[in-house]
Amino acid sequence: MEAMREHEVIGVDRGKLKSAPFRVVNADFLRTKEIDSILDSTQPDWLINCAALANLEECEEYPDRARILNTEMPRELATVCAQRNIKFIHISTDAVFDGAKASAYTEDDEPNPLGVYSQTKLDGERAALESNPNVIVARVNFFGWSLSNRRSLGEFFVNNLSEGKNVNGFTDVIFCPMWVNHLARTLIAMLEKNLHGLYHVVGAQAMSKYQFGVEVARKFGLRESLIEPKSVEGSGLTAPRSHNLWLSIHKLSTDLGREIPAFSTGLDGFYTQFQQGYPQKIRSYQQ
Ligand SMILES: NC(=O)c1ccc[n+]([C@@H]2O[C@H](COP(=O)([O-])OP(=O)(O)OC[C@H]3O[C@@H](n4cnc5c(N)ncnc54)[C@H](OP(=O)(O)O)[C@@H]3O)[C@@H](O)[C@H]2O)c1
Repeated sequence: MEAMREHEVIGVDRGKLKSAPFRVVNADFLRTKEIDSILDSTQPDWLINCAALANLEECEEYPDRARILNTEMPRELATVCAQRNIKFIHISTDAVFDGAKASAYTEDDEPNPLGVYSQTKLDGERAALESNPNVIVARVNFFGWSLSNRRSLGEFFVNNLSEGKNVNGFTDVIFCPMWVNHLARTLIAMLEKNLHGLYHVVGAQAMSKYQFGVEVARKFGLRESLIEPKSVEGSGLTAPRSHNLWLSIHKLSTDLGREIPAFSTGLDGFYTQFQQGYPQKIRSYQQ
């Protein structure tokens, strides 16, 4: 939606979007080999691959599905886009790192994936980079409003705190959350600038998941005391998680020639959308 002001947007979806304000093509990448026919019928200039098996626990449970979606599909998309001269962005993850570094990770740091999700995503990055010299591989972390209303960490805190529920906030997981609209704008700017290669495309500020929850609570006027500072260890999550996902955005801001927006600006945007009924609006696209 962020791109619709200046571009024609076509979404690929496996059946959820019934009344989106842009054209939608249906495809299930686990079942179909339709990439060529989708590109024939849509003729895009740019392609941004957001599809993935992105639930860490599901990846541990279904490693074959994770490999197909997170590794083989990016390889195929990168190859086809190179053949057709379509500029391609593949979305990857901050979680390729094991978190052992005490400072910010750069694009030159060696990844060390801890689980099936991060291993298959790293393999997908490498497959895309090998198959297409012009690909942009963007390691992201973002928050925003989602179709399900419960996909992002921002929604998790807003939903639970609004209902007066106690939640855990991990004090020992550091990350760099970026408002998804800032992410979309940044990706478009990268395409317009004709960048290529591997980039960290995350927020400008590193913080713990607990701190993030507190910031969200304060912005939305919710009770931050409901957030209990906890360690991720012993939280019951089965897939391993890295403790430090602080990623440097120096390469990105240098190559774009501009600053990456501050976290507070993104949080303001997330809150303004809430006030304007944006969460309900995007959920209505499913009806
Ligand atoms: N959220 C974050 O902060 C974060 C952090 C690091 C990396 N990422 C990356 O960002 C991307 C988006 O992740 P997300 O967090 O937004 O997760 P998500 O909501 O699970 O998004 C994954 C998307 O892939 C689609 N998909 C899954 N299986 C498919 C299939 N068989 N055929 C067609 N489409 C399929 C999903 O469609 P359905 O809606 O139908 O399931 C969904 O739209 C992923 O590449 C992920 O690795 C996200």
